Amino acid sequence: MAAVAATLLWASMLIVPCFAGDPFAFFDWNVEYTTVSPLGVPQQVIAINKQFPGPVMNITTNWNVVVNVLNSLDEPLLLTWDGIQQRKNSWQDGVLGTNCPIPPGWNWTYQFQVKDQIGSFFYFPSLNFQRAAGGYGGITVNNRPVISVPFGRPDGDITLFIGDWFTRNHSDLRKALDNGKDLGMPDGVLMNGKGPYRYNTTLVPAGIDYETINVQPGKTYRIRVHNVGVSTSLNFRIQSHNLLLAETEGSYTWQQNYTDLDIHVGQSYSFLVTMDQNASSDYYIVASARFVNESLWTRVTGVAILHYSNSKGKASGPLPDPPNDFYDKSFSMNQAKSIRMNTTTGAARPNPQGSFRYGSINVTQFYLLRNMPPVVIEGKRRTTLNGISYSPPDTPLRLADQFDEKGVYNLDFPNLPPSSGAPQIGASVINGTYKGFMEIVFQNNDTTVQSYHMDGYAFFVVGMGFGEWTNASRGDYNKWDGVSRCTTQVFPGAWTAVLVSLDNVGIWNIRAENLDSWYLGQEVYVKVINPESTTKTELPPPDNVLYCGRLQSKQKPQKPHGTNADSSSASIVFVRDKLLIFMLLFAAMAVFP
Ligand SMILES: *[C@@H]1O[C@H](CO)[C@@H](O)[C@H](O)[C@H]1NC(C)=O
Ligand SMILES: *[C@@H]1O[C@H](CO)[C@@H](O)[C@H](O)[C@H]1NC(C)=O
Ligand SMILES: *[C@@H]1O[C@H](CO)[C@@H](O)[C@H](O)[C@H]1NC(C)=O
Ligand SMILES: *[C@@H]1O[C@H](CO)[C@@H](O)[C@H](O)[C@H]1NC(C)=O
Ligand SMILES: *[C@@H]1O[C@H](CO)[C@@H](O)[C@H](O)[C@H]1NC(C)=O
Ligand SMILES: *[C@@H]1O[C@H](CO)[C@@H](O)[C@H](O)[C@H]1NC(C)=O
Ligand SMILES: *[C@@H]1O[C@H](CO)[C@@H](O)[C@H](O)[C@H]1NC(C)=O
Ligand SMILES: *[C@@H]1O[C@H](CO)[C@@H](O)[C@H](O)[C@H]1NC(C)=O
Ligand SMILES: *[C@@H]1O[C@H](CO)[C@@H](O)[C@H](O)[C@H]1NC(C)=O
Ligand SMILES: *[C@@H]1O[C@H](CO)[C@@H](O)[C@H](O)[C@H]1NC(C)=O
Ligand SMILES: *[C@@H]1O[C@H](CO)[C@@H](O)[C@H](O)[C@H]1NC(C)=O
Ligand SMILES: *[C@@H]1O[C@H](CO)[C@@H](O)[C@H](O)[C@H]1NC(C)=O
Repeated sequence: MAAVAATLLWASMLIVPCFAGDPFAFFDWNVEYTTVSPLGVPQQVIAINKQFPGPVMNITTNWNVVVNVLNSLDEPLLLTWDGIQQRKNSWQDGVLGTNCPIPPGWNWTYQFQVKDQIGSFFYFPSLNFQRAAGGYGGITVNNRPVISVPFGRPDGDITLFIGDWFTRNHSDLRKALDNGKDLGMPDGVLMNGKGPYRYNTTLVPAGIDYETINVQPGKTYRIRVHNVGVSTSLNFRIQSHNLLLAETEGSYTWQQNYTDLDIHVGQSYSFLVTMDQNASSDYYIVASARFVNESLWTRVTGVAILHYSNSKGKASGPLPDPPNDFYDKSFSMNQAKSIRMNTTTGAARPNPQGSFRYGSINVTQFYLLRNMPPVVIEGKRRTTLNGISYSPPDTPLRLADQFDEKGVYNLDFPNLPPSSGAPQIGASVINGTYKGFMEIVFQNNDTTVQSYHMDGYAFFVVGMGFGEWTNASRGDYNKWDGVSRCTTQVFPGAWTAVLVSLDNVGIWNIRAENLDSWYLGQEVYVKVINPESTTKTELPPPDNVLYCGRLQSKQKPQKPHGTNADSSSASIVFVRDKLLIFMLLFAAMAVFP
């Protein structure tokens, strides 16, 4: 009833494509710079509605989400919704292969449905290294009330963003990369946009604002942790507390306790943490850089505080120990392999997640994607996958297809790394077969951990191993309870294999989540088209689609909101009112169903 009313309310205000009677959630975001000093040095960061990190989008399976984004930055903007599958709707994905950037001073309204999904994800600005300056926030997709969840209702829900951080801003970092330099060691690790608690007076200067998580003894909290950093793998741990792993990017896992867990760039996990200690003091929450020389990197540690309501004092003493295996990554790989899907529980739907027997489906397409350490191509330092360094065309690929613009990209991405030939810069795309079953092996020939993400899909992580992948490696695949997720780590000198069912039509980004690797060219798109062109398998472009590149002449100008505070705040009030009406109505419906 509430859903129907909300749909009618919305339909009366705007003309929208018809998504069957599911509720709508409205968000109205102003993306702008603000100055904060997380590590004691004032710097410009990207805030949303003055919040850094941005607001958590707390929604439920199948809801329709409408986000009006006002770009108050001085550069183009796109927000991408990492892990939200955008079924049939790559138009809303917020990456350069599908969307024209929102020019500075303009607003653009995203509209999408979180169809058949649950779990912990995050959004972030996808262009120009902006994530290094913030602009990120959580996306929590709750189960519909009719779907049972494989654990009791937690006493609280806490979102924690961890990530390495530079005191140089994103434009300076970009410049360093453009000039062929490495970014070097980050200046710290932030937790929820804040610097470390002063656990060591030599390492941490006075006056740093740190994050405190307030809890009550005996209660159990769901803590959702996202690594939103630039490129550092982090080890996450809470002093004296077990982390019961419950979910990873939309799959419920076999619940197991970990004392610490490695979380790589772009990954999200939910832990159930019971406050079972005696609160003789507060406890440290730690995110420390992984696989780096600790004696050089000690200052790059994130420390927040877990504060019991009955705590008898401040946290003190050394941090809980990190894993001690600088030279040996097998502990971390084994830990990753120990994360299994709970195949007897449902996720977004009531049927068990494991009922999709990925292990017995025949693979129809195989890609081995090898990354290499940066190389110089055409005088520029670039990164590659299979010898190709991706350079985004001015016209988004999906838009070029829609308007039959030829030659924007080539559908010729090689299945295997080339055995010879110089690396190239270009826009080469994987030709995915609709309804096919694709095996992708990521082979990391670089010296640092990389993580790879795929938009539009969740993939099954079926194997990881050191050395070069061979056909025989398939013998070690987990064909039964591998987790289905959207971001996987690939250890240096090692491979990771994933399986993905190509049932979502669109053009979808596969990318390194490590920002420097991505910025320098480590990405590719997979084009999945239904040969019978139909609106049943892909939505038409939205009415407000932006045009650019070769299609620039189709774009109607928008009166920039500019710095005129009155006009921009007026539009925000308008949408807030709408949201308020919606919320009141929704509340009324809940009370008088
Ligand atoms: C970044 O910092 C440089 C100075 O190091 C400054 O010139 C530039 O305006 C800053 N850019 C942003 C977006 O804050
Ligand atoms: C998120 O939404 C769910 C369901 O509507 C609600 O139970 C929960 O309290 C909300 N969580 C937060 C942190 O607001
Ligand atoms: C910009 O915001 C205004 C006011 O909220 C809205 O009417 C308009 O549709 C938005 N424009 C786009 C392109 O989303
Ligand atoms: C798996 O899910 C079932 C069904 O919800 C639940 O009873 C069980 O405790 C879960 N097992 C583990 C190990 O998480
Ligand atoms: C603080 O860190 C410094 C540098 O790593 C170390 O020498 C010192 O022992 C630490 N102090 C304490 C109290 O742990
Ligand atoms: C996890 O650890 C907690 C104590 O922190 C314990 O009560 C619980 O039984 C453990 N669960 C599993 C599945 O090992
Ligand atoms: C609380 O626990 C700590 C560590 O487990 C122990 O050293 C301490 O004695 C305990 N304090 C009290 C008051 O029980
Ligand atoms: C870490 O760096 C220090 C100082 O440069 C060096 O002495 C030490 O050998 C390094 N340790 C490792 C494990 O590489
Ligand atoms: C997979 O391929 C094998 C051999 O080519 C064939 O026998 C089998 O029926 C196929 N399985 C499915 C599910 O299509
Ligand atoms: C892409 O794959 C389809 C089959 O899925 C095939 O028909 C088409 O010719 C391929 N296109 C190119 C350019 O290779
Ligand atoms: C590996 O398997 C593929 C088919 O999946 C086959 O074409 C290739 O020859 C095999 N390579 C080796 C070295 O056995
Ligand atoms: C990279 O590949 C070369 C051969 O192509 C191999 O000799 C080397 O060990 C690889 N390095 C890593 C870190 O995988």
